[in-house]
Formats: sequence, C-alpha cells, structure tokens
Amino acid sequence: MSDLKLAASVEELRRSPMSTCSFSTSWPVLDFGAIRRTIMAEFTEKYGPWALVTGANAGIGKAIANELASRGINIIGVARRQVLLDQLQEELEEDYGVEVRTIRADLTDPDSISKIELLTSDLDIGLVVPNAGIELSGAFIDSTLAANEHLLRLNVVAPMQLAKMFGAKLAARGRGGILFVSSLFAYQGIPWVANYAATKAYILSLGEALHVEMKPHGVDVTVLSPGLTDTDMPANMPVNFSKIPIFKQHPEQVARIGIKALGRKATVVPGLLNKFYAWENRLLPRSFPVALFGFLIRHAFRKDTGATRATPQSQTS
Ligand SMILES: NC(=O)c1ccc[n+]([C@@H]2O[C@H](COP(=O)([O-])OP(=O)(O)OC[C@H]3O[C@@H](n4cnc5c(N)ncnc54)[C@H](OP(=O)(O)O)[C@@H]3O)[C@@H](O)[C@H]2O)c1
Repeated sequence: MSDLKLAASVEELRRSPMSTCSFSTSWPVLDFGAIRRTIMAEFTEKYGPWALVTGANAGIGKAIANELASRGINIIGVARRQVLLDQLQEELEEDYGVEVRTIRADLTDPDSISKIELLTSDLDIGLVVPNAGIELSGAFIDSTLAANEHLLRLNVVAPMQLAKMFGAKLAARGRGGILFVSSLFAYQGIPWVANYAATKAYILSLGEALHVEMKPHGVDVTVLSPGLTDTDMPANMPVNFSKIPIFKQHPEQVARIGIKALGRKATVVPGLLNKFYAWENRLLPRSFPVALFGFLIRHAFRKDTGATRATPQSQTS
C-alpha cells in the first residue's frame, strides 16, 4: 500500500463514527472496550430487548439465559418448575440488572403456546430459543407409545409452534433470531436413543431450511447441536458415557458458542471431536457410523438399570 493510501485509510478510521480506534503518536491502537460495546449494542439492537428461552431454569437453557442477560437482553424464561424459574429471575436481575419474566408452562400441553403468546403480547421479543427437551433411551419397542408421543410433543411440536408463531412476528418486525437446540445425535440414526435422535434430526432440518427462508426477512436462524453436555439430562440417563469416546462440555461453553453463531452460521456443533462425529458420516457409508454408535451405546448402558430399558425423563411437573 502506498504511503498516501495508508494515510487515507488511517484518516478514514479516525473519522469512523463507531470510534473504535484511538490514536497515540502515529500508531493506531485498537480500543477493545469500544469495539465490545459496539458489538453488544448491535446484538441488543437485533436480538433484544427481550429473548424467550424455553427450559431456561436448568442446564443449557439456563446457560443461554445467563449469556443473553450478560449481553443486556431481558429474559422470558419458560419451564414447569416455578421455584427454579424464581431462582433464575433473582440471579439474572441481581447479576446483570436485566428484567426477567417467568412463565410456568408445560410445553407438551396443547394450550401452552397460546398461553405464552398471551403472556408476552406486551413485549418486544427479538430472539426465541426453543431449548426445552427431554430424552428417551432404551429399546424403541420396549418404550410406551405415550412416552414417545410426549417426546414428540416437547422436542418437535412445541419448537415448531414457537418458531411458526414468533417467526411471523420477527419477520414483520424485520429483525431478530431463532436459536434452535438440536443435538449431535441429529446427524445420524442413533440406535437405543432412536426416537430422541429422530426428533433432533427434525429440528436440524427445520432450522437449516428456515435459515435460508427467513434471511430475506432479516431473521437469523441457527441450529445449535451440542454433544454430551454436563446437565441433568445425561446425568439421569442409564448410560455410562465414560465408555463412549466423547468429551463432556460445560453448558456455559455450549451456550456461548450457540449465541456467537447467531447471524453467522446455519448450524453449529460445539467441540472439535463432536464436529468430527457430525461430519464423518458424510464421508463414510452411513450404515457404518449408525452401527458403531449402536454398538457403543448398547455397551454403555448401565447394567444396574437394565440394559435396554426405556426411560422417559422429566415427565413430572
Ligand atoms: N445435555 C446434553 O448432553 C445435550 C446434548 C445434546 C442436546 N441437548 C439438548 O439441549 C436441550 C436442553 O437440555 P439440557 O441438557 O439442558 O436438559 P435439562 O438440564 O434436563 O433441562 C431441560 C429443561 O427443559 C425444561 N423442560 C422439560 N420438560 C418440559 C416441559 N414439558 N415443558 C416445559 N419445559 C420443560 C426443564 O425445566 P422443568 O423441568 O422445570 O420444566 C429444563 O429447564 C434439550 O433440547 C436437549 O435435547 C442436550
């Protein structure tokens, strides 16, 4: 670059309305504080002032609510256990000074989505995170039809309904986002967790497609597909995950990666090894990784719980 062009660029930077650079002597010094404030302001402008997070009182949902609140976004937390919702509200208000509204709802209840719509109609929601989910592990044929239908209502129907209702509102607003929470298990069939993996494949497919469909409306759609994450969900599964070559991540780490991907990526899988598992099945005949995971999970079932017992989780209110 010629001296003349360099001088012109420096002058342009100096005049930048974002004021992200300050100058000492002749060298530009990046003002990281100002850059961070600008990024935060843009984030809040697009995805704030309110975000709705389902399953916000525990695990990954709670970590997402915290991460969003730390960026100055007000939180609407949805779940069934009110005592944990109250705790979340207290923590977020105290730690970040944001506003929090809690909605006690069982998302498998067909009226829950209209209840959420009614109770949030006065708020300007810029981001929706349909995160609440349960797993169902064990032999598919040993599980009850009721447990499988319950799984579909929470993991598939509720996120679809929320995306449909809020998607239309966000499109009308001309900006905002939807952060779906799928799973690494969405990327292939997973024996012994078959229907759970299938529900997550639905979310991955829906989100990938909506990423393209909603873009022209100014709405960013991203699918976060965590691998094994340290929450109550895997802790309560009858599976000894230490027998599977997979690393456990912290929910805070997973939440940060998901939120960072908003507006940048259609899909994100946190962790290098998880990324490998998500993509290797595109290089190999699909039957191979499906059989491999079937073998690994089958042998990781804890003997004391019954090898292939079906265990519907979290069905209590
Ligand atoms: N942890 C992992 O290893 C992992 C890996 C991949 C994907 N994921 C996905 O991440 C998401 C969050 O899972 P997590 O690990 O954070 O699980 P978690 O710790 O068990 O939390 C589940 C959350 O969902 C809420 N919930 C459960 N049933 C509900 C219902 N019927 N109506 C409303 N809310 C309900 C729970 O609150 P209440 O019980 O109070 O209702 C809780 O806030 C799920 O979609 C899961 O599939 C998790």
